Amino acid sequence: RRKTRVQHLQQLKAAGEKWAMLTAYDYSTARLFEEAGIPVLLVGDSAANVVYGYDTTVPVTADELIPLVRGVVRGAPHALVVADLPFGSYEGSPELALATATRFMKEGGAQAVKLEGGERVADHIALLTGAGIPVMAHIGFTPQSVNTLGGFRVQGRGDAAERLIADAIAVEEAGAFSVVMEMVPAELAGMVTRKLTIPTVGIGAGADCDAQVLVWQDMAAYTSGKTAKFVKRFARLGDDLREAAATYAAEVRQGVFPGPEHSF
Ligand code: KIV
Ligand code: NA
Repeated sequence: RRKTRVQHLQQLKAAGEKWAMLTAYDYSTARLFEEAGIPVLLVGDSAANVVYGYDTTVPVTADELIPLVRGVVRGAPHALVVADLPFGSYEGSPELALATATRFMKEGGAQAVKLEGGERVADHIALLTGAGIPVMAHIGFTPQSVNTLGGFRVQGRGDAAERLIADAIAVEEAGAFSVVMEMVPAELAGMVTRKLTIPTVGIGAGADCDAQVLVWQDMAAYTSGKTAKFVKRFARLGDDLREAAATYAAEVRQGVFPGPEHSF
């Protein structure tokens, strides 16, 4: 099996073949996703929610994310590992973005970075790609801007479609190798996908994107509580793990575990 490179994703788009991306935040899950053949893993700043328990992605820092990247890189040697740059670590200037992205590459071992924004971060994307850092852009609903976007809502409806198309073109022209579109009407996302030469990765953006991404805890129902409309649950790991923990504890209390077969 070959290591996924950004060029391979470009070839898949040219061949009309779809691919799946998942988030990962540690060695053990990265190994499983590697074994499942997932070509691209994202160490998302969604770690803020699913690893650190923050309400939004706004508080999480590079210092909190970089150690997670190291674990994922060790667990998935064939996956292209993309690391999210967190809020406040890149927007200020292209130079700040380069400094932070460099940390994720050198200290974390990431092979690409992702950042949120369209036209407003085009100069940042150009500097990074010029410096040898592949960049995945992220447009539509961008969770780091939840406070200006008016909550978790679909982006690009009505007049806002022009803005989204302009953002998509801007990140492609700046040199991004791919672009995530989050919570965008399916028809618009399909139009952008056909317009761009780089692969689009949808999350709540319909079936016409070149690829799809989900937070793995959503995909496998590892978390409890309600999930977004765009999530499909492919397993019920949360229920399984809760039950395993409860059964283990009950067997210890009852003296059933450990049995003779577990003893020396
Ligand atoms: O942080 C994240 O998990 C993401 C994906 C859902 C695209 O940005
Ligand atoms: Na993210």
